[in-house]
Amino acid sequence: MSSIINVDSYLDEILLTEEELQTRIAELGARISVDYKGRNLLLLCVLKGGVLFLTDLMRHITVPHEIDFMAVSSYGRGVRETTGVVRIVKDLDEPIESKHILIVEDIIDSGVTLSYLLQLLMPRNPASLKICTLLNKWQKRTVEIPVDYVGFDIEDKFVFGYGLDLDERYRNLSYIGVAKVPAE
Ligand code: PRP
Repeated sequence: MSSIINVDSYLDEILLTEEELQTRIAELGARISVDYKGRNLLLLCVLKGGVLFLTDLMRHITVPHEIDFMAVSSYGRGVRETTGVVRIVKDLDEPIESKHILIVEDIIDSGVTLSYLLQLLMPRNPASLKICTLLNKWQKRTVEIPVDYVGFDIEDKFVFGYGLDLDERYRNLSYIGVAKVPAE
């Protein structure tokens, strides 16, 4: 399906193919299934970028679990760097007390968004609170946060596709691409 989407003018290179993504996501799902056996698991997806990762990951998780969504915005439309300002757009539907929460993110960059989320969620007394990210842009970290499951450590390049947007578009690509650097 994605092959008919013309992104040539924006795409510098493909960083992670559909096959690479799906293979790694299956591995993560298998690990999570072992780690959360017998536990009351809730996958907390951070919108919007995490949505494709969540839907593929949960199909590889064999333990019963719930899902819920939060929308947190840390980047303005068209902005490629974090603003450092985190805004809650949508909170969880239910209390998380006594549940094992696994936050599902598409990417961690500065760490500001997840640091804020952890501080917000800890006082709600979950049984545990862990993080699973598909992509980890570790060089950009300004706030240290514990990351429990990482799909791929990646370099500091602007990436899009598979949930991640390029000016709000192309989230539907089945691969992760590196965006061309815009002309000055
Ligand atoms: C992205 C990503 C994380 C955050 C990571 O979301 O999904 O939530 O940025 O950046 P940080 O580690 O520097 O805080 P974005 O604000 O782009 O929203 P979106 O998922 O709706 O595209």
